[in-house]
Amino acid sequence: MIEGLLKGKSVVITGSASGVGRAAAELFAAHGARLICADIALDLLEETIAAVKAAGGEARAVRCDVSQKSDVAAAVKAAVEAYGRIDVIYNNVGIPSPKTEQGTMAKLVENTDAQIEKLYAVNVNGVIYGCQLAVEQFRAQGGGGVIVNTASVAGLIGWGGVLYGSTKGAVVNLTRALAIEVAGEGIRVNSVCPAGMATRFITGDRGPLPDAAIERMGQAYPLGRVIDPLDTAKAALFLASDLSSNITGVNLPVDGGLSAGKPL
Ligand SMILES: NC(=O)c1ccc[n+]([C@@H]2O[C@H](COP(=O)([O-])OP(=O)(O)OC[C@H]3O[C@@H](n4cnc5c(N)ncnc54)[C@H](O)[C@@H]3O)[C@@H](O)[C@H]2O)c1
Repeated sequence: MIEGLLKGKSVVITGSASGVGRAAAELFAAHGARLICADIALDLLEETIAAVKAAGGEARAVRCDVSQKSDVAAAVKAAVEAYGRIDVIYNNVGIPSPKTEQGTMAKLVENTDAQIEKLYAVNVNGVIYGCQLAVEQFRAQGGGGVIVNTASVAGLIGWGGVLYGSTKGAVVNLTRALAIEVAGEGIRVNSVCPAGMATRFITGDRGPLPDAAIERMGQAYPLGRVIDPLDTAKAALFLASDLSSNITGVNLPVDGGLSAGKPL
């Protein structure tokens, strides 16, 4: 077991009240990170903070709507005020494709202007703001620093809704292009690209899916099991830590082989 991969590092994780972000908060803290946990869902965020602290970790909550640049700036500032610097930002927030009134995923022509604006404001602008503000802070600290984004397998292949996939495709190529732009400053930029996970992203307020439904979801993947938020958090830990010190511009699928191809 490798330990202390983020020992003493100051890390901001957005979307850490639930799902992948909560799993990452608990895992990163167990590896010694000092956390700023940012989210709009304050009640759930307090549960994340309590879980991290109960395990002996360090975490503070910041209310942050990532579609508002000033909120993201406040999260970065909170890290600098609390821990003196920021070493890693994990831009993890994402919301799903809009649904129709019948509860099915809306087709592209069914998406309203307001839905398009909201999805881009959260899934794309939120990541752009996190990257901009982290790079500015990394520069003020003299260079170095790590950015991890949560994209999606929907950004790599045509899967998971057209509008959502287009936002994640933007995150995928932002990750590549920014990695090249800032490589000379010792800043690394990578993303994790998960496939379907049974989080609130899928269930909303309906509570956890029954085990049988989760098992059925898993049958869609070559490795035969559904992706767990912790699977994605582990990939993010790898990209956030020095284990990946010579890796940048990568969009790492966490998809049980889904994007690799189809059997003959
Ligand atoms: N669950 C899946 O099937 C799946 C598949 C591929 C990619 N992803 C991506 O994984 C990431 C994490 O999703 P998850 O499955 O953990 O979902 P989740 O809904 O469990 O967690 C998302 C978190 O983001 C927060 N959030 C939503 N809008 C916000 C905003 N404007 N500002 C700040 N916080 C906000 C929510 O409160 C929640 O805590 C997202 O980027 C998502 O697009 C999810």
